[in-house]
Amino acid sequence: MFDSDSYHLWHGNAPMADFFRDSDPDMFLVSGAGSRVRDAAGREYLDARSSMWNVTLGYSCEPVKAAMRAQLDVLPSGTVMRYEHPTRVAAEYAARLAAALPGPLDHIRFGNTGSQMTEAAAMLSRFHRRMTGEPERTHVITVKGSYHGTGPLATALTGEEVFHRFSAPLDRFVRTAPTPDFTDGDDDPVRPVLDLVDEIGAERVTAVMVEPVLGTFVQPVPHRYLDALIAECRARGIHVIADEITTGAGRAGAMTVSERLADVPDMVVLGKGLSAGYFPLAALAVSRPIYDALHGTEHRVGFLNGSTTDGHPIGMAAGAAVLDVITAPGFFEDVRDRAAALRDALRDGLSDVPAVRAVGGEGMMIGIELAYRDGTPWSLTDTNRLRLACRDHGLLTSFSVGVLPLMPTLVIDPPDVADLVARLGKALRDFRPGKPA
Ligand SMILES: Cc1ncc(COP(=O)(O)O)c(C=O)c1O
Repeated sequence: MFDSDSYHLWHGNAPMADFFRDSDPDMFLVSGAGSRVRDAAGREYLDARSSMWNVTLGYSCEPVKAAMRAQLDVLPSGTVMRYEHPTRVAAEYAARLAAALPGPLDHIRFGNTGSQMTEAAAMLSRFHRRMTGEPERTHVITVKGSYHGTGPLATALTGEEVFHRFSAPLDRFVRTAPTPDFTDGDDDPVRPVLDLVDEIGAERVTAVMVEPVLGTFVQPVPHRYLDALIAECRARGIHVIADEITTGAGRAGAMTVSERLADVPDMVVLGKGLSAGYFPLAALAVSRPIYDALHGTEHRVGFLNGSTTDGHPIGMAAGAAVLDVITAPGFFEDVRDRAAALRDALRDGLSDVPAVRAVGGEGMMIGIELAYRDGTPWSLTDTNRLRLACRDHGLLTSFSVGVLPLMPTLVIDPPDVADLVARLGKALRDFRPGKPA
């Protein structure tokens, strides 16, 4: 076992005491292949969380590895942050990424993390207002239960009270609207956001940020809600920023969810699967009207936001190679088929487990909804204990209140699907939650 005197890595959001209690000295991951990883003791795990939901193409994607190696040989570093020498690989990849995104989203800023890019999106929205004579538009609205990362602004954007409580003080100009009722019965689900807009004053709101699937609970947001949100925001001059860090680059079964909507959001944030997790990479795609307003000839001020390694050539090479894979004909269709097969197998294989109330989610974002016998959702403690039980059965998962999120690779094959269901089934059948299941 470890203790804090002999162990020097600090990681995770969980208290380190949990790690010291639940881990053993050989649990470090040392290799990966396909959808599986192996630890220092030689134990193999089926990685149903794709590292941090980002290793979308598995651990053996040779074209991506080869592109990264080749880039390492010709230009191993570079920046798009300052000066007049961006790298060619960044310019070429930006053009290709823009072409893969819907309509007006045709200018791309690169960053290293999703949090960096959600912050950049909110700041860019505010900056745009300053440049276009509406400096009083400073407020950004997000939805309770959403996750947009961590950082002084990103934590504020994340609509989870616990994040705010422990990280305050945060950006005062971010407000969280109640989670809408997404059931079909609610014919005005945008109302909670609009009520908050009215309370603040529409002329003081610059943007609304939204996840097309609330990732923490793997809860898909109906497209009719997103369509209505975009229309109502447009009518009030408010930007809509779609956070597609998890849903984008294939996980929801398409390049973006945004491309399936009636109208395209003003900005889209991508991350995670953009580089299949092979390099830190995120991107902010900005629609032409916003870009043009910033870069008209009358403005000589830059958007002072960026970091040294933005647009790093190895990340650009990885991103371009991932794009080749995921935009190949039939790839997204194949993801949707594999996700449907996994969902069916989970429904069949877990039908005898009373705690499993539903298998939800969208595309290859799957939420196993867990409830006690009285119908209340499992506590975070119980879903975390189940996660550990899964780990002991060689299956890596995420956990959340009332939900066990499964975010496997997009290329999970039929034997791994069967294995996943078998391992999860074993863990669930042996498990005793805190309250009767
Ligand atoms: C929807 C969403 N937004 C933002 C983030 C933050 O991205 P990162 O962890 O790369 O900072 C995440 C990461 O889980 C996410 O899922």
